[in-house]
Formats: sequence, C-alpha cells, structure tokens
Amino acid sequence: MAVSPFTYVAHLLAVAAAVLILVWSIHFRGGLALNSTNKSLIFNVHPVMMLIGIIILGGEATMSYRALPGSRDARKRVHLMLHGVALVLGAVGIYAVFKYHKESNISNMYSLHSWVGLGTFCLYGIQWIMGFVTFFFPGASASTRQSMVPWHAIFGLFIYILAVGTAQLGFIEKLTFLQLYNKLGKYGSEALLVNFMALVVIFLGAAVVLSTVNFKTTRLESQKSIGL
Ligand code: HEM
Ligand code: HEM
Repeated sequence: MAVSPFTYVAHLLAVAAAVLILVWSIHFRGGLALNSTNKSLIFNVHPVMMLIGIIILGGEATMSYRALPGSRDARKRVHLMLHGVALVLGAVGIYAVFKYHKESNISNMYSLHSWVGLGTFCLYGIQWIMGFVTFFFPGASASTRQSMVPWHAIFGLFIYILAVGTAQLGFIEKLTFLQLYNKLGKYGSEALLVNFMALVVIFLGAAVVLSTVNFKTTRLESQKSIGL
C-alpha cells in the first residue's frame, strides 16, 4: 500500500517541531534539569517532554501502522511501543511541571490548560491500556477486535487532536507569563519563535490525521488493506 504524502509532510514538521522546542528551551530559556536551584529549568522539561513525547512520537506511532513496511504483527508492535514511549515521556513532563510548581510554591490545576492537559493525558493512558488488552495481550476475539477498530481509531485521533489543542493552550499561557512578568518583547525573536512553533504543531497535527485517511477507499476497506 502506498504511503500517504501527508506522512512525509508530518515527518518534516515533526523534525522542525523538535528542533524549535530544543532551541527555545536550551537557547532562549537556559536549558533543562529535573533538579536545580534555578526552578525555571525544571519547568522547561515539561514542554520538551510533552512535545517530543505525546505530539511527535505519538504522531509517529499513529502513522507507523500504515506507513511502515513489514508484517501486521511487526507494525502492531512498533505502534504499541512508540505509543508506550510517548506515554512515558509524557509522564516525565507532567511530573516535571508538578515538581516545578511544588518547589516554587505555585498552585496546581488552576488553568484550562492544566484541566484539559491532565484529562488528555489520562485518556491517552486509558487508550493505550484498552489497545493493549484488545489487540495484543490477552487480545479479544476476532469479531470484537474487528468491531473495536473504528472506535480505537476515532478515539485515538480525538485524543491526539486534544493533545495538539492542549499544547496550543500551553504555548499561549507560557508566552503570556513571559510577556507579563519577564518583560519579553511582544514582537521579539522569542515570541515569534514560540508562535511559529505553535503553528508548526497545528500543521503537524493536521498532517498526522490526514495521513490516516485513505481517499481512494472507505475506512473499512482501508482497514482490511492494512491487514486487520
Ligand atoms: C500534550 C501536551 C501537554 C499536556 C498534556 C500538558 C499538561 C499540563 C498539566 C496537567 C499541567 C498542570 C500542572 C500543575 O497544575 O501543577 C500543566 C502546566 C503547565 N503547562 Fe502544560 N501540558 C502540555 C503541553 C505544554 C506545552 C507545549 C507548554 C508550552 C510551554 C505547556 C505549558 C504549561 C505551563 C506554563 C504550565 C503551568 C501553568 C498551568 O498549570 O497551567 N504545556 N501542563
Ligand atoms: C495511546 C495509545 C494509542 C493511540 C493514541 C492509538 C491510536 C490509533 C489510531 C489513530 C489508529 C488508526 C490508524 C490508521 O487508521 O491509520 C490506530 C490503529 C490501531 N491501533 Fe492504536 N493507538 C494506541 C495504542 C494501541 C495499542 C497499545 C495497541 C495494541 C496493539 C493498538 C492497536 C492498534 C491496531 C491493531 C490498529 C489497527 C487498526 C486498523 O486496522 O485500522 N493501539 N491506533
């Protein structure tokens, strides 16, 4: 089966997003650390892990099912493992922001970003567990697996879109804090970089979702063709 051109676009945007988040956190924000007297460095771990984990690796995991060569079983394992690594990196990112809040005496869970973010992260974890027990171990019957596939795919895409939206809220929140309290220039290079990165993340999300659409066949036919 031919790989969707959107998959290649998504790979390019994924690399761009990874470079931009590292430039932001290391060059502009001073670097990353899980333990430091400079508490901002602990915060920096949060966006880096969320973006490289859930958004970038999660996107690659979703596309891997269709885009990779090899047997259905091998692709299933790659899909499962990449989502697993995304989940672990996401957990480190959430741990980092709670640690930063605790050590800086900042309240928890006061923003829309934090509510939608924690909700999205929990859904991502539930999706992984449900996918694992249904399609991998112990595995449901063939007919249950078949009827679960469209639900798994649609919930997976929904959670991914929620994660992209959460990241947007996070970018705008952090940038607003920096503009209010750190006197960051509204049109300065850092503000431009963050806004540009947020756009890249939107386009990445769109490319990942579009790469799962098979325009020539119905979803059911395309599911059969990728070997379910
Ligand atoms: C899928 C992606 C993301 C998820 C699931 C997520 C989740 C969360 C959660 C649960 C909190 C609350 C921590 C607490 O209350 O102690 C939080 C805080 C925060 N996050 Fe994110 N985040 C994501 C991406 C980002 C990104 C890309 C940024 C950009 C800088 C960001 C910026 C922030 C900021 C500034 C806070 C502290 C203020 C607040 O609690 O709202 N987040 N995030
Ligand atoms: C948070 C974790 C997960 C997310 C967000 C997710 C998301 C998705 C999405 C969006 C698709 C549709 C891909 C497409 O149509 O091209 C898909 C397909 C699939 N996923 Fe997952 N998945 C996750 C975890 C798992 C796990 C742990 C398994 C266990 C093996 C699994 C098994 C499958 C299978 C068998 C398909 C193929 C469905 C088909 O034939 O269209 N997934 N997943």
